[in-house]
Amino acid sequence: MHILVTGGAGYIGSHLVRALVDQGHAVTVVDDLSSGHRETLPAGVELQLGDCGDATTLDAAAADHGFDAVMHMAAKCSVEESVRDPRLYYRTNLGCSLDLMDWMVARAIPCLVHSSTCAVYGCPDTATIDEKVCAEPANPYGASKLAVDLAMQAYESAYPIRTIALRYFNAAGAHPDGSLGEDKTPASNLVPILFDAALGLRDRVSVFGTDYPTPDGTGVRDYIHVMDLAAAHIAALEHLAAGKRGGVYNLGTGTGHSVLEMIDLAREVTGASIPSELVGRRPGDPARLVADPTRAAAELGWRTSVDITAILSDAWRWRAAHPGGYATEEAR
Ligand code: WQD
Repeated sequence: MHILVTGGAGYIGSHLVRALVDQGHAVTVVDDLSSGHRETLPAGVELQLGDCGDATTLDAAAADHGFDAVMHMAAKCSVEESVRDPRLYYRTNLGCSLDLMDWMVARAIPCLVHSSTCAVYGCPDTATIDEKVCAEPANPYGASKLAVDLAMQAYESAYPIRTIALRYFNAAGAHPDGSLGEDKTPASNLVPILFDAALGLRDRVSVFGTDYPTPDGTGVRDYIHVMDLAAAHIAALEHLAAGKRGGVYNLGTGTGHSVLEMIDLAREVTGASIPSELVGRRPGDPARLVADPTRAAAELGWRTSVDITAILSDAWRWRAAHPGGYATEEAR
């Protein structure tokens, strides 16, 4: 099939593009490179520079061929930034997605897979989170993504389009061949921050809160390998291409790891001391976010394949070879 991937030069998008190409699909990427990296794109993948909601950009991407499906990965995804600038998040995440869906309906492109997030659930008080848990987002990032998920369901009921929302938990890891990785500056997520400390690029890791109702008092998250996320997108694409109705799926391992556990694992994987300090909670952080991935397994035939040590080892392989990110790559 010919697949349009918005945000295909980003962290998760680039791993999805590689997986699609490796499976023999033709891929076109629309990306504004505001946070993505051109270096990630395999030979033969066309890059249309621009805004994923702009019809002129999308028409240019489709000039020589139609698309069988769209994988919508482009979004703003910083919780902190969304609180500071909600307009940016609603305009980008919701506004561009609506423009993209209108363009798809006008061009009779039948399948849409949306990169959504567990942040739609806010701070649920459950051991694991399935898709029936009430979505009560705690910040504009999660709320803007929930609005897209709901709009997709309404579009699917009214127009000739089938849609799937994939609600990621904590994406981490990198392509096992060492060619792709996570390069976001400034780093705000735990795993890249652990590696910054391992590389001596920061003095220490701050542990945000030690008084949560968790076994060691620190935040628990469900870290999922970025290649397992890519596999889930392909399973979702095949589900929709087979004419089946869309839906919403939580993507995680079903197992949680605390901040202190992640620091210990990162020390083992990197061999570095990774100094840490215990500080107060980060506003808006839930104590525990762990997926119940039962529905994705039952309906998409998808399961995660690697454990947390492999996730950190794959991530470290790329980061140790690219301490300054893609900017350290030889110009292609
Ligand atoms: C993980 C844990 C922190 C940094 C992310 C994305 C969000 C969504 C879900 C996809 C928490 C703790 C962190 C640090 C720390 N992904 N921490 N010190 O907040 O769970 O959300 O995944 O849509 O977009 O932001 O991830 O990596 O920031 O935090 O103690 O320096 O690590 O409190 O418990 P988070 P994170």
